Amino acid sequence: VTDPEPRRLLAADRLPSLGDRQPRHGRPWVAVNMACSADGRATVGDTSGGLGNATDRRLFAELRAQVDCVLVGTGTLATERYGSIVRDPAVREERERAGRSPQPMCCVVTRTGRVPLDIPLFGDPEQEIELFSGAAVPLHGVRARVDITRAEQPGFGAALRDLHTRRGVRTVLCEGGPRVLGALVADGLLDELFLTFSPLLVGAEGMKNVIEAPGARGPVPLSLLRVFESDGAVFLRYAVGDAG
Ligand SMILES: NC(=O)c1ccc[n+]([C@@H]2O[C@H](COP(=O)([O-])OP(=O)(O)OC[C@H]3O[C@@H](n4cnc5c(N)ncnc54)[C@H](OP(=O)(O)O)[C@@H]3O)[C@@H](O)[C@H]2O)c1
Repeated sequence: VTDPEPRRLLAADRLPSLGDRQPRHGRPWVAVNMACSADGRATVGDTSGGLGNATDRRLFAELRAQVDCVLVGTGTLATERYGSIVRDPAVREERERAGRSPQPMCCVVTRTGRVPLDIPLFGDPEQEIELFSGAAVPLHGVRARVDITRAEQPGFGAALRDLHTRRGVRTVLCEGGPRVLGALVADGLLDELFLTFSPLLVGAEGMKNVIEAPGARGPVPLSLLRVFESDGAVFLRYAVGDAG
């Protein structure tokens, strides 16, 4: 049975832009971009690669190109083996023409200091990384420009406020993973959510859901801003909180 109606409503002609998002509450604007299966799982096997299609990859790159900073969890850094945030020289040049750094800085918060320093991200001398850590992180062999802020109990709220006041960061894109998303939601630090539903059922007991939030404070309302479809994947864009 095919119902043409949804396809008429949904169009993937233009990918969403972040426009001129402004800092709020003394911290940068925070958007999250994540993908999940139709049953809400965050990975296929160990990584999220099996959830994305070409449009998802374009959205991922276009959002990165527009922000000052990418926030990512240590679990995701390790599993997805992160490299430099923006690799395309044309995008780097375009950012510079717009008065930005060639690529967004990266922000990592760790309470234990366990950071996967062997991933390509830490080998790029042009990559700036702001690390908020509860323990010493020995940076031997790291070529990226890493700035460590030590705190007894590092948290995302304090890290975001510091990025804004000390580094002038206005917009942050969080790319997960599920535990970081859970913490941002629990701490009321999320402004916008890009959520892609991949046309797959993953099932599999014990697999991570797209949000893992042991400390969540109850339902958080979302306001739908946009929805589009591409190759059977549904892309949702929400503002966090009640409309208006
Ligand atoms: N589908 C998607 O869009 C998507 C996106 C990203 C990742 N993923 C997948 O998700 C998996 C990784 O996610 P994950 O949830 O294990 O790890 P994660 O969210 O990437 O990182 C979790 C780590 O963040 C640190 N952290 C700092 N403050 C925290 C706080 N307040 N609450 C919780 N954690 C805090 C913790 O390290 P410390 O203990 O050192 O503090 C913790 O181990 C991978 O399999 C990856 O492929 C999927």
